[in-house]
Amino acid sequence: MVDLYSSPPIDIRNRPLVGVDQLVVPDVYRNDLKGIMLSEGEMRNRVERIAADISIFPIEGDLLSICMLKGAMYFFTDLNRALGALDYPVEFGTLGSESYHGEESTGKVILSPFDYDKIPGRDVLIVEDIIDTGRTLDKVVNKMGAHNPRSLRVACLFDKPSRRLADVTLQPDYIGFKIPDEFIIGGGLDFDGRYRNLPHVAVLKDELRS
Ligand code: IMP
Ligand code: MG
Repeated sequence: MVDLYSSPPIDIRNRPLVGVDQLVVPDVYRNDLKGIMLSEGEMRNRVERIAADISIFPIEGDLLSICMLKGAMYFFTDLNRALGALDYPVEFGTLGSESYHGEESTGKVILSPFDYDKIPGRDVLIVEDIIDTGRTLDKVVNKMGAHNPRSLRVACLFDKPSRRLADVTLQPDYIGFKIPDEFIIGGGLDFDGRYRNLPHVAVLKDELRS
């Protein structure tokens, strides 16, 4: 598309982790962390940059910005706040998804109920935390795309390219960071419902993941 510009993702796949004593880290979480992959400050600046990229694209009426619950909540609020400051009008939507991990080859994605009558003719932005196998976003984009949006874009804060399934061709239009094949928490992302409000994105100690 002519008007779609996105700055390249920041590739942090080979960056060493930062120690928990090198940044301000909440005491309740610090002993669980192997290290910090990305600080809150760098993440915030990148989100503002993504908002600037998104705002170049001309829309008709308000953007329908859809938050993929729950992991994208912080990314979603920061991004849409920045879009407002850039004179880009937004309506909020939410969509929940559940995927069955552990069954790598047969993993099924279940989406929460959504009013798809809102989609025809609208400029739609799907806001997701992370693309891993790609199953979740693939399903969401197919479902939304079938309801004739005027435009359909995907913003995803983290991309783990090494995990992508061969049959998933979908590429998010806006990506914040390319990350290595590590399970991350913080900045909205969880392990078993925990750590979402850790301000930085971190890697959990191996012994806590079993
Ligand atoms: P996909 O369908 O395999 O692409 O998985 C996407 C979903 O899995 C994301 O929306 C997250 O909820 C979850 N996920 C994948 N990798 C991570 C991670 O490293 N930390 C936390 N959640 C993750
Ligand atoms: Mg998610």
